[in-house]
Amino acid sequence: NDELKQELFLAWKTDVCSACVEFPGSEESSEEVTEVVCLESDLQDGQMMEVEVGRQTVLLARTEGKYSAIGNQCTHYGAPLSQGVLSGHRLYCPWHGSCFNVLTGDVEEFPGMDCLPCHKVQSLVFRLFSIVSIKYQMKITGAASLSCAEILRQEHFGGRIIIVTKDDLLPYDKTRLSKVHDSIVLRKSEFFHQYDIEVWLRKEALSVDTDRKSVTFNDGSVHSYDQLLISTGSKGLDVPGRKLKNVMMLETPEDARRIHSACVGANVVVVGTSFVGMEVASYLIDKAIGITVIGSSELPYQNTLGREIGKMLSEKEVLACIVLKSGKVIPTDVLIVGIGSYPNSQFLQGSKVKMDSKNFVLVDKFMRTNVPDVFCGGDLAIFPLVMAKNHLVNIGHWQMAQAHGRIAALNMMNNATELASVPFYWTVLLGKTIRYAGHGEGYTEIAIKGTFEEQKFLVLYIKEDVVIAAASLNYDPAVSAVAERLVTGRVITKKEAQSDDLSWLQLS
Ligand SMILES: Cc1cc2nc3c(=O)[nH]c(=O)nc-3n(C[C@H](O)[C@H](O)[C@H](O)COP(=O)(O)OP(=O)(O)OC[C@H]3O[C@@H](n4cnc5c(N)ncnc54)[C@H](O)[C@@H]3O)c2cc1C
Ligand SMILES: *[C@@H]1O[C@H](CO)[C@@H](O)[C@H](O)[C@H]1NC(C)=O
Ligand code: FES
Repeated sequence: NDELKQELFLAWKTDVCSACVEFPGSEESSEEVTEVVCLESDLQDGQMMEVEVGRQTVLLARTEGKYSAIGNQCTHYGAPLSQGVLSGHRLYCPWHGSCFNVLTGDVEEFPGMDCLPCHKVQSLVFRLFSIVSIKYQMKITGAASLSCAEILRQEHFGGRIIIVTKDDLLPYDKTRLSKVHDSIVLRKSEFFHQYDIEVWLRKEALSVDTDRKSVTFNDGSVHSYDQLLISTGSKGLDVPGRKLKNVMMLETPEDARRIHSACVGANVVVVGTSFVGMEVASYLIDKAIGITVIGSSELPYQNTLGREIGKMLSEKEVLACIVLKSGKVIPTDVLIVGIGSYPNSQFLQGSKVKMDSKNFVLVDKFMRTNVPDVFCGGDLAIFPLVMAKNHLVNIGHWQMAQAHGRIAALNMMNNATELASVPFYWTVLLGKTIRYAGHGEGYTEIAIKGTFEEQKFLVLYIKEDVVIAAASLNYDPAVSAVAERLVTGRVITKKEAQSDDLSWLQLS
């Protein structure tokens, strides 16, 4: 039957996919399903499509002549991957920068935590294809320390792994603190148990002795290490009066709870017009009586996203808040301070670990500090950014902290691997997400696609005739397409950015 020969068959089977490297002890749950899903001619090389199999959506891709099928839901926050950007074997999520290998389902860029269910594709007689699929869980996760611990286990490190934090909660998704208030723990305690990762809570590091290879904690204990990852992150400005009852900062889940309860029905002033300050204001809009946002720049986000987006956001009343210039006195019930990014590195004072003038820790592309066996990553680190010609930068992004943890883990295991990730950030304002990829420092020009009026736009930041960053609102997956180009080192020229031909952005 000629027609049948042209069709694509999909089958679920209990075989373990050989392409997938399993996380030890991972679970398998599978069923076998065979269904006709599409014609072979429906899918050209470099294309992908969603197909329904056994009431599940699977993503079918054809790359370099090969068919592959993986889960269609991003393991970060569930974006439909069929709306992402496919480049070779790499599939970029349309939402927050995760990248997956379509052949194996592996996570190749964070913030995705687990790899995707992977389906093996077999080419049979004529043009029939059958797709054999298994489902399995557990792979990669968390910000710097958690991703480091998980990668160590994934790479079969057999020694002891200890995560120490002064927090009283297992590693959590900090990015959710200012956006939603729900369960934010990244991994349950069973997970840490299963992979033999110790987590010590409520323990603050006071000093590090790199000669003796030991860390001293606030309970008086001293613990030795063979290799150390320092990823204590950053904190906001230590303002005078910080300890006052109605002065708050947002750094922990406890802070989030306090802010929420203090602000319901109150007059609130938020200091800081960058991401955290604006997100908090937006979160409180339907909870507080009045909100005033104070910033030192003329427009919100001016220092990060630029004047144009800042202007649009204030004009279009995406934010119903006022940005004040100085000189006014505002009565308030609660003051939220959302400015500054200061390193949590006091405990390294007097150690041999090299820091810059602002006390951020200097590392190389392997996340190594100047001291052997001491690594650093996340908000605390100053590192060479490949896409910015190895310029030393400090980047306070969730995805970058995770990438740092991964690179530190690989290098701890003598698997020399350089950091090559491109920064990716997102911020949510009144339910709208602005995405940002790249490193826009020092841009001199911009190119705008779409319109600010309709709140549907892409801004490309240009420096020396090359695109160095992009920001978007309602313009997916353009920022992911830009991230893909920056990761692979394929220059986006100013001419290309200004052209009306947008095909390279793979807009859906
Ligand atoms: C409210 C908020 C919203 C954010 N939203 C986003 C977003 O939408 N997208 C995005 O990309 N990024 C966002 N970020 C930034 C992101 O959370 C950070 O870049 C990321 O968490 C940095 O990871 P890290 O591993 O370096 O440090 P952290 O995740 O900050 O972890 C540091 C840990 O070290 C502990 N610690 C500090 N000092 C000590 C000590 N002396 N001893 C023991 N433990 C110590 C801390 O308690 C903490 O548990 C947000 C940050 C905040 C605060
Ligand atoms: C090094 O790490 C990469 C990435 O995880 C992995 O594919 C490779 O097998 C590792 N190499 C060795 C020698 O362990
Ligand atoms: S949903 Fe895919 S990266 Fe967040």
